Amino acid sequence: MPSAGAHRAGRIVSATALSVQNLHVVRGKKPVLQDVSATVPTGAVVGLLGPSGSGKTTLLRACVGVQRISSGSITVLGLPAGTASLRETVGYVTQAASVYKDLTVEENVRYFAAIHGRSRIEATTAISDVGLSKLAKRTAQSLSGGQFSRVSLACALVTAPRLLMLDEPTVGLDPVLRADLWAQFAQLSTNGTTLVVSSHVMEEASHCDSLLLLRAGRLLAALTPGQLRERGQSEDLELAFLHLIQSTDVEFTDSAQDGAA
Ligand SMILES: Nc1ncnc2c1ncn2[C@@H]1O[C@H](COP(=O)(O)OP(=O)(O)OP(=O)(O)O)[C@@H](O)[C@H]1O
Ligand SMILES: [Mg+2]
Repeated sequence: MPSAGAHRAGRIVSATALSVQNLHVVRGKKPVLQDVSATVPTGAVVGLLGPSGSGKTTLLRACVGVQRISSGSITVLGLPAGTASLRETVGYVTQAASVYKDLTVEENVRYFAAIHGRSRIEATTAISDVGLSKLAKRTAQSLSGGQFSRVSLACALVTAPRLLMLDEPTVGLDPVLRADLWAQFAQLSTNGTTLVVSSHVMEEASHCDSLLLLRAGRLLAALTPGQLRERGQSEDLELAFLHLIQSTDVEFTDSAQDGAA
């Protein structure tokens, strides 16, 4: 049965791409995710938002199967997280760009294309999609920070994933590039790709269909940007988030980070 859908541009998206149930993760003996449950509908752009250290990267890592979990379950595209076949359908762009610095942009993307059975034409398209066509022959190490991080994104895009997990993809980008990237995420989602995009910049929340708000390892809320403005009593999403934290009747005393929980 289809799950409740997300709405964007009059389109109803159904079916669940990602389901996290009662997830607990311990890192370095500290509980860093506590009883997190969330679902992501297919084709949605979901923002994973929260302050530094709130557990965004840990949650993404758990969803792609590279993070040991203590308890709970994660289902990705109908399969348990970490299932080998998901490597072909799930893209993950890590917070620290993972490309070969001594290879050119084109060589990096073509390499990823080849691993995933994609063509050179698809590599060229992915490079163009992230706005790096003119720099395709440059080595990755000769690029600026923002350009460099977009090589990683092109490497993920060329695999044409059904679910794309992006850890802070807009860090270091200027406002124009940031807007371009969000427009591209919307286009990908229109074509059926599900995106989970982490950020600690609350203003980016407005680009998302729905939001997962993390604080101190717990899911503070799962809601739309409109609902956040309403519940947080502010048009400014950052202020709304702060108000929501203050008004939430749960003890977010940073116990997760202190290891006291
Ligand atoms: N390798 C590790 N060993 C032990 N603890 C870790 C490790 N990596 C992260 N942590 C802790 O886990 C918690 C969550 O970290 P995580 O990187 O998931 O947060 P984040 O929300 O992605 O932060 P940021 O916005 O700074 O990237 C933090 O308290 C952090 O100190
Ligand atoms: Mg992180």
